[in-house]
Amino acid sequence: MAVAFHPLTVTEIERDTPSSVLVTLEFPDTELGFEHGQYLTFRHEIDGVEIRRSYSICSPVDGALRVGIKRVDGGAFSTWATSALRVGDTVEAMAPMGRFTHELDPLAARTYTLVAGGSGITPIYSIAATILDTEPDAIVTLLQVDQATSTIMLLDDIEDLRNRYLDRFRVWRQLTREPQALDLLDGRPSVESFLAGVERGLFPAAPDHVFLCGPEALIEMITDAHTRLGLQPEQIHTERFTSAQSGRAPRRVRGPVDDSIEPIATGQVTLDGRTSTFSVLPDDTVLTAIQRSRPEVPFACQAGVCSTCRARVTEGEVEMATTYGLVPGETDAGFILTCQATPASGTVSVDFDV
Ligand code: FES
Repeated sequence: MAVAFHPLTVTEIERDTPSSVLVTLEFPDTELGFEHGQYLTFRHEIDGVEIRRSYSICSPVDGALRVGIKRVDGGAFSTWATSALRVGDTVEAMAPMGRFTHELDPLAARTYTLVAGGSGITPIYSIAATILDTEPDAIVTLLQVDQATSTIMLLDDIEDLRNRYLDRFRVWRQLTREPQALDLLDGRPSVESFLAGVERGLFPAAPDHVFLCGPEALIEMITDAHTRLGLQPEQIHTERFTSAQSGRAPRRVRGPVDDSIEPIATGQVTLDGRTSTFSVLPDDTVLTAIQRSRPEVPFACQAGVCSTCRARVTEGEVEMATTYGLVPGETDAGFILTCQATPASGTVSVDFDV
């Protein structure tokens, strides 16, 4: 697994909404492709503290590498990126990652429902544009939930896409601070309003795939609606906002370690073909324990959402605070989110290379 950070040059910065920018980047010396729905994890130092943040790529897979960054209150990275970042600057990012994606099939005539809440539109735009470009018979319906027209990210890109694929791309908006022409799109969405939209033909009753990105409550609601419609879990793809996470809070690596503290577990970590030992102290997660011996171990959100820290347990057992970043079946296959894991046995070994 490649965990290196690559230098990327900022080639364009576009003001998207009053609080967000679209940043186009170029890998100067590396060819790194990406899949629709994937994200980049950035590393930046502010006041001597390294900050890592993940942002979804908001371009079709054959487009320029571009991310949308929205300023959040108190967000050091997003404040820096939306105010101080300039064209020509170099930023550091890991290779594109993430499994909020699927296998494209140009011969399939599939139906898709996409739902985006707020800045959740960034990966959803990449997914919509890629599907429409790659699957010529696909029908895509998008529900965009936001506060007002002025806060919608990628509005021009979505409208361009709609104009290009008028017969295959439908867009509905549910803006909580603006009245809508259709009564069932007025106010906040609910399971009932979404299912009423299905009855009225706004959304397909049996889509082949559903992609949802936004706050936890919106994802749960639309997942519930599609489960009632009879969809299987593998048809429903979700990506949660880190800010809406309920996972274990990020922890700092402890150091230097006091020798009098007894480890609660020990183990081995395999990363990039090399195996090292580590000790888990009280209050450690498996990730923070590994960081002491292998500081290059991959991580980003530390909230159980992004799955950058995913590894497979090869010995022992762990407990996890949350498993949002894992897809159905991965827990049974032994995969864990090391940032959410604490040992449930005296030995815990993990492999990041599988
Ligand atoms: S670092 Fe994001 S899930 Fe662990």
